[in-house]
Amino acid sequence: MKKLKDFAFIVVLNSVVLFGFHAQENPIDKKVQDLIAKMTLEEKVGQLFQVSGEEVTGPRGEKINITEYIKAGKVGSCLNIYGTKNVMRVQKAAIESSRLKIPLLFGLDVIHGYKTVFPAPIALASSWDPEIVRKAQKIAAKEMSSSGVMWTFTPMLDIARDPRWGRVVESFGEDPYLVSVMGRVSVEAFQGESFDKKDSVMATAKHYVGYGAVQAGREYYTVDISKRTLWEIYMPPFKAAVDTHVASVMPAFTTVNGVPMSANKELVNDVLREKWRFQGITVSDWNAIHELINHGVAENGADAAVQGINAGVDIDMVGGDYMNNLAALVKDNKVPVALVDKAVARILKKKFELGLFDNPYKYCDSEKEKEELLSSANREAAREIARESIVLLKNDNNILPLKMKDIKSVAVVGSLAESKRDIIGPWCGIGSEKDTISVLDAIKDVIPRGTVLNYQKGSEIEDNNESLVNAAVNAASKSDIIIAVLGESSEMSGEAASRSSIEIPEAQKTLLKWLSITGKPIVLVLMNGRPLDLSWEDKHIPAILETWFPGTEGGNAIADILFGKHNPSAKLPITFPKSLGQVPIAYNHLMCGRPATTETVTQKYVSKYLDIDNEPLYPFGYGLTYTAFSYSPIYLDKKEIKIGESLAASVVIKNTGKVDGKEVVQLYIRDMLASVARPIMDLKDFKKVSIKSGDSVKISFTITSDHLKFYNKDMEEIIEPGTFEVYIGTNSRDYQKESFKVVK
Ligand code: GLC
Repeated sequence: MKKLKDFAFIVVLNSVVLFGFHAQENPIDKKVQDLIAKMTLEEKVGQLFQVSGEEVTGPRGEKINITEYIKAGKVGSCLNIYGTKNVMRVQKAAIESSRLKIPLLFGLDVIHGYKTVFPAPIALASSWDPEIVRKAQKIAAKEMSSSGVMWTFTPMLDIARDPRWGRVVESFGEDPYLVSVMGRVSVEAFQGESFDKKDSVMATAKHYVGYGAVQAGREYYTVDISKRTLWEIYMPPFKAAVDTHVASVMPAFTTVNGVPMSANKELVNDVLREKWRFQGITVSDWNAIHELINHGVAENGADAAVQGINAGVDIDMVGGDYMNNLAALVKDNKVPVALVDKAVARILKKKFELGLFDNPYKYCDSEKEKEELLSSANREAAREIARESIVLLKNDNNILPLKMKDIKSVAVVGSLAESKRDIIGPWCGIGSEKDTISVLDAIKDVIPRGTVLNYQKGSEIEDNNESLVNAAVNAASKSDIIIAVLGESSEMSGEAASRSSIEIPEAQKTLLKWLSITGKPIVLVLMNGRPLDLSWEDKHIPAILETWFPGTEGGNAIADILFGKHNPSAKLPITFPKSLGQVPIAYNHLMCGRPATTETVTQKYVSKYLDIDNEPLYPFGYGLTYTAFSYSPIYLDKKEIKIGESLAASVVIKNTGKVDGKEVVQLYIRDMLASVARPIMDLKDFKKVSIKSGDSVKISFTITSDHLKFYNKDMEEIIEPGTFEVYIGTNSRDYQKESFKVVK
């Protein structure tokens, strides 16, 4: 009797589960499955093919007639096609001419703005203000979504630690926590509450994973990192993006453990999809599936297609190997049709969620496009965001802000001072130099009447001549102060822009040395996309401002800071070395067995160089202000907690200077003794606070178990009892210290 009862119970359970399952099935999933049932194999493969518009963002491949392909149902999405008119024209080809009228997705690299260009991501991260980043990305989403584009290949979440790598400019810097925070708010800003909103667009976490670790900072080159480094440093920002329900993930060009990411089943299918439960679309990088052949892991396009689809890469961007081979591979039983169906389902699901089947032209609102793009509100926001992203690196004798009552003449020098193109940097969406204001023009707008302004280019970006230099030195000699706007061109950063030197280009450095001989005070305004070796400049130049590529309103933002309309508060999200010879150099390094401490650094047998010390020029989290802040000692509400408990760490910060300002208060923690070597510190939290001159503010952080976890020898996340040190301060070098114990 018991057996029968058990059997009955199981039947009831199954039916409830089955019934329950049907009753709860997402209505979109049903629409997707119904549509897939109608599709031919060729139409399914078409959904996995992404074609580019005329403006390529990678090596140009074989030219195809994309309209014909779209009408034949052989394309699922496009990139680099934007603007309501263009998108409507191309979407019409799919809706009016293809058999099943499946709408297309349109993607674009809206990396730091669409038409209104914001500071480059490395600058956005320098704000250390998630709400500033959210604001920039939200405006970008509103502009692109009014202009036909519903998919951005942003945020780039690569941890960047080698300044030779050009894509540092697109990153949020070297730290997993800071990058995770900025990545999360970017996804939230782009994707909004839900995809049925007209200004919600799909975000993309890229480039999954480890691309920033290319050896020697050389673009697309070998990546060789340990499993521990992968999971402790490079994976966290992608996990944060997946936990924020990012719509798509782009595997990197590079390899992990010898396996190119476009064929990396373990990390794409097993980890991303199965372990992390990522439900979205995976889109290859440009031609990356076909480049499996160059990697030496695929014999030909068909082999590359098999490896890509098996790894779990849904969309082949541009390459064509899916389009040219997958149908035959399925027919030859070399690829199960179920794999294709799953990829197609994920793509169609996003199209349904975006509402494209109801209205394929939802994002083509020419009226909204006109009023949204480059609106005065967006420009004003761009100026505010740029001000928050500019880092004051040096300010001897408070030379800044400029006291114009004592200054009768100003020399502005450098071709970057008048450049309207470089200031918006690489990956500038559809931003245009026609819309930007140069540093020189911005200074002209604000300089007091009667002050003489002498402008001389002094040098091109990478070459100069005697007459240029002489004219600049002459102008400088006749002026009370020199504002030198120097650095890198936009093309010297971004993709395919690694540099073997990280100094200001020689031609400009020579100019700067001649200017310094005049003995006039110099303010160096840097425009660049990577940490630079500024050792000489730090010794000889009294004021240095790191503006990165500050965007459409960058010129005005720089002038606001130079002339004191805004007090700088940004901090470096990436270490500036004293020399390339110190690289890799990140703040959260291990201790090693023979550390060069203050006690041991003079000894022979310690970890150091013969010709330079170990310290960076400017540490992670560093940035100055026109005011000054003092920190009280740290107060811990407990000195001992059990595993699972939390404690509060507080400081009182006083603005001891003469002007109101903002301070980025940073919380770092160190595990003093563990079963594996732990970093000397890890950023765990931060807060940006405004404090009026003379005022004090109490800042408290809650330290929880999440802050104390790490991977043990077996790569299991655990907390071990022991002593932990807490550092709260203004950067990773200058802080107050306390300690607490964790007990079983
Ligand atoms: C490029 C970049 C990637 C970008 C894609 C589309 O090669 O690596 O970041 O999203 O192609 O432009």
